[in-house]
Amino acid sequence: MDTDGMTEIAKGAEGSVYRTTFLGRSAIAKVRSPKGYRIPELDRKIRNQRIRSEARLVREARRAGIRTPVIYYADTETGTLVMEDVGGETVKHHLDEHPEDASRICREIGRNIAMMHNAGIAHGDLTTSNMIIAGDGRICIIDFSMGASLVETEDMGVDIRLLERAFSSAHPKLGEAYKELIGSYCETKTCPDQVMDKVQEIKDRGRYT
Ligand SMILES: Nc1ncnc2c1ncn2[C@@H]1O[C@H](COP(=O)(O)OP(=O)(O)OP(=O)(O)O)[C@@H](O)[C@H]1O
Ligand SMILES: [Mg+2]
Repeated sequence: MDTDGMTEIAKGAEGSVYRTTFLGRSAIAKVRSPKGYRIPELDRKIRNQRIRSEARLVREARRAGIRTPVIYYADTETGTLVMEDVGGETVKHHLDEHPEDASRICREIGRNIAMMHNAGIAHGDLTTSNMIIAGDGRICIIDFSMGASLVETEDMGVDIRLLERAFSSAHPKLGEAYKELIGSYCETKTCPDQVMDKVQEIKDRGRYT
């Protein structure tokens, strides 16, 4: 992938995220770089599979009613995913600047995660940096690279547990808003008790291992 003329906006362990244009529209390109320590053929397979999986989950989540970026194209040869730039700012950034909005935003996050789980999708990396308040004010969920579909209660419990940990480290003062998030999740999720019991079980497991 020729990244000349693209602006790098984030760099992670798996690759980089750039702002670019696609057919005249502002777009985001996520490029997974080759890993030198893997056998090239295997490396290509892994990147190929991750890109496909992320693109598929983003689409499935949208079908379930969640705002996700429109995928423009996935190039498995170069490990590149090009998608709509939803604009706006991350929920992390917004909550840091406007904690007064926390209650409303957290209720909206809870409802969205419940819809995703009701559709059998787990995100795998739920943090407030993987949620964007889009230009239209809606919460957009991004970065499904660790996600899975057709999941069981266990994966949903892990999602909620990870979110709880991410929340308490990134937003230690927003404990009340987090409770509202869970309240809203439980209103929309079918059989929420199964997931919440699982979350408790995961916490207990962590305590004794
Ligand atoms: N579609 C998008 N529209 C606007 N901004 C985006 C979009 N996708 C990503 N971003 C911005 O780029 C940042 C990083 O993106 P993302 O979370 O997908 O990558 P990552 O965490 O590096 O990925 P991975 O966990 O797969 O290595 C986001 O926090 C967000 O600020
Ligand atoms: Mg991310």
